[in-house]
Amino acid sequence: MTQPVSRRAFAAPSVRALLAQAGAFPLTLIAVWLLARTGVPMSWESVALIQGAFAAVIAWRLGLAVWWRAIELAFPSGVLLARGFDLPPSLFLVLFVLFLLIYWSTFRTQVPYYPSGRAAREAVANVLPVDRPLAIADVGSGLGGLVLDLARRRPDSEVDGIELAPLPWFVSRLRGKLSGSRARFLRADYEAVNFGYYDVVFAYLSPAAMAGLWHKAEREMRPGSILLSYEFDIPGRMPDRRIVTTNSKKILFLWEF
Ligand SMILES: C[S@@+](CC[C@H](N)C(=O)[O-])C[C@H]1O[C@@H](n2cnc3c(N)ncnc32)[C@H](O)[C@@H]1O
Repeated sequence: MTQPVSRRAFAAPSVRALLAQAGAFPLTLIAVWLLARTGVPMSWESVALIQGAFAAVIAWRLGLAVWWRAIELAFPSGVLLARGFDLPPSLFLVLFVLFLLIYWSTFRTQVPYYPSGRAAREAVANVLPVDRPLAIADVGSGLGGLVLDLARRRPDSEVDGIELAPLPWFVSRLRGKLSGSRARFLRADYEAVNFGYYDVVFAYLSPAAMAGLWHKAEREMRPGSILLSYEFDIPGRMPDRRIVTTNSKKILFLWEF
């Protein structure tokens, strides 16, 4: 059964984040009024802090993740600080477009960009079967670091990066071209890519994406293929292996089909 639009909108963290600031506003007005009545001196900085604190508490009550609460806390003070620098309005437009190109549909996917790093690359390279050439995909390949590394380590294999956000995809493609890599970078939603083509699917996404990823993998992946997820487990699906990565101590989860 499809959910009503209002409920789906409320499920988006960015909508709840906005509601937290809106809900904090009347509480801030009341708090400032009460404090002013008791003779406490009020500056704009302290008003921004009060607004941020109320918004962070509301964000917590609305079930937003800890980084959203930090953003809620810092946001009003950040706006105040930016006003103080008297920055040109065009700068905000440029920043908006830049963030849009990097984060693109994070609003929908709830998977922002952050790189997995060297420990993950080592761990992934070490679990790849070595007895045959492989087709490997990094679903949500970001700036392409892991894909380029695997393509270098496994010249016998095909390595694809699938990325939805335009700027990370463009950067990864450029890195591939400049380094002469055989890796392929596709700008696509991995939801639309057939996992059945691949022997190994690697994902570094977010807790919000894991159930959907599992359903897709279960539907499409062939017997003998492997699903890898860095840091994020799949609720209720016991992995076949848990590899503690060397320096980050984060876990690489492995499921065999
Ligand atoms: C946490 S980053 C991981 C980057 C890279 N795999 C790594 O290990 O460094 C997740 C990436 O997935 C991308 N992403 C999120 N949902 C996606 C989707 N449905 N299809 C393709 N890419 C997606 C995001 O834009 C982001 O760049």
